[in-house]
Amino acid sequence: MSWFLQKGLSVNEAGNLTIGGCDTTALAAKYGTPLYVFNEDTILENCRRYKKTMDNLYAGNDMVIYASKAFCCKAMCRIAEAEGMGLDVVSGGELYTALEAGFPAKNIFFHGNNKTPDELLSAVVNDVGTVVVDNIQELELLNKTAVSQRKKMRVMLRVKPGVGAHTHDYVRTGQIDSKFGFALETGEALNAAVHAQEMSNIELYGLHCHIGSQIFEDEPFAAAAEVMLGLFDKVREKTGVVLSALDLGGGFGIRYVEANDPSPVENTLKLVADRVTEVCSRLDLPVPKMMIEPGRSIVGDAGITLYHVGTVKNIPGIRTYVSVDGGMTDNPRYALYHSEYTAVIANKALQPADSIVTIAGKCCESGDLLGENLPLQSAETGDILAMLDTGAYCYSMASNYNRIPRPAAVLVKNGGHSELMIRRETWEDAAALDI
Ligand code: LLP
Repeated sequence: MSWFLQKGLSVNEAGNLTIGGCDTTALAAKYGTPLYVFNEDTILENCRRYKKTMDNLYAGNDMVIYASKAFCCKAMCRIAEAEGMGLDVVSGGELYTALEAGFPAKNIFFHGNNKTPDELLSAVVNDVGTVVVDNIQELELLNKTAVSQRKKMRVMLRVKPGVGAHTHDYVRTGQIDSKFGFALETGEALNAAVHAQEMSNIELYGLHCHIGSQIFEDEPFAAAAEVMLGLFDKVREKTGVVLSALDLGGGFGIRYVEANDPSPVENTLKLVADRVTEVCSRLDLPVPKMMIEPGRSIVGDAGITLYHVGTVKNIPGIRTYVSVDGGMTDNPRYALYHSEYTAVIANKALQPADSIVTIAGKCCESGDLLGENLPLQSAETGDILAMLDTGAYCYSMASNYNRIPRPAAVLVKNGGHSELMIRRETWEDAAALDI
């Protein structure tokens, strides 16, 4: 059965799907649906796998930074901190959440292609450890802001290395035609590195790139590292300065359906480390502090979403729509990218998935689907449907379309305990901002 592919899932004596030792039908009854459920053991296992691999490869001269855009809330920031990770934030809202959670500002990396003056001020005032600068206007504004606050800001420059990766076009960011970062070929990135070093209140710490998301191959990461080290060399040649850190971003793919076959992170990171060693020795550069920013692969396979099945509509010769009490509002990824998922009827987990269905949401929109042509156990009104591997980019991309309240998120841990991380929104919340 393909859903056994997700770690931490099992079936109890009642034939119900369990996650982290909790019966999913009991979770649905206790907290209501739709419900995001995250398994702490899986999150910790994922964090530790990256940390251990990086520490081994670089003898501790490394940092694993959790990309909080994948799933951002205070509880998740606290887990990242406890695991000794850095935190990638990409907006004032994510930064605020991290600071409210008590995440140490010095380990925060502030990303974004269009940070507002207020966001930059907030980064400076709160002593954010590293601002990943995207463009020259931002560099100048950051320096000015730092001067006004009498602070020196550590920065990395986001560079587009022009390395492609096999992934969905919407999430491909390593190309020259991208809104993110400084171009390499045109000399823009090198000029920015020179310029940054002339600025009074900027400390140029290193370079950053991010080549895409949900990447299954190893080579694009190694190729990106090679290109970036070439720029380290040019910066040294032009300014005499050897930069300290190289951040290769995130993008490590996960398995959503049986056919997905992502490379194990150990293999990817080993190939990168070998390339880094080889290129550094060829260029006579010291190996910089190496950083990566996984998001999806930290939380994606730690989460599931539970729904109640409502209407089941069979259109003979066409298809069967199984409607659930959520949809694109809590998971817009099928509507946006046609992303594939695995679904299970949680209270029929041992029954064969012998029907092929379309899973529909409750929005007033034909495209509000969670998947088409999915194998599923025979679904009836009142069943609990579990969508697997929904930990990344579902809660964080959820919306209130049709004024549908966002679901709660629960953390299961210690072999059967559950606690709320994010409470369910209410209809009152939906109208709370109206004047
Ligand atoms: N670092 C930077 C600078 C990024 O832009 C991203 C993702 C990450 C790290 C984390 O990448 P990950 O390890 O999660 O692949 N909404 C899309 C994904 C967009 C990713 C954007 N940047 C989706 O649902 O597939």
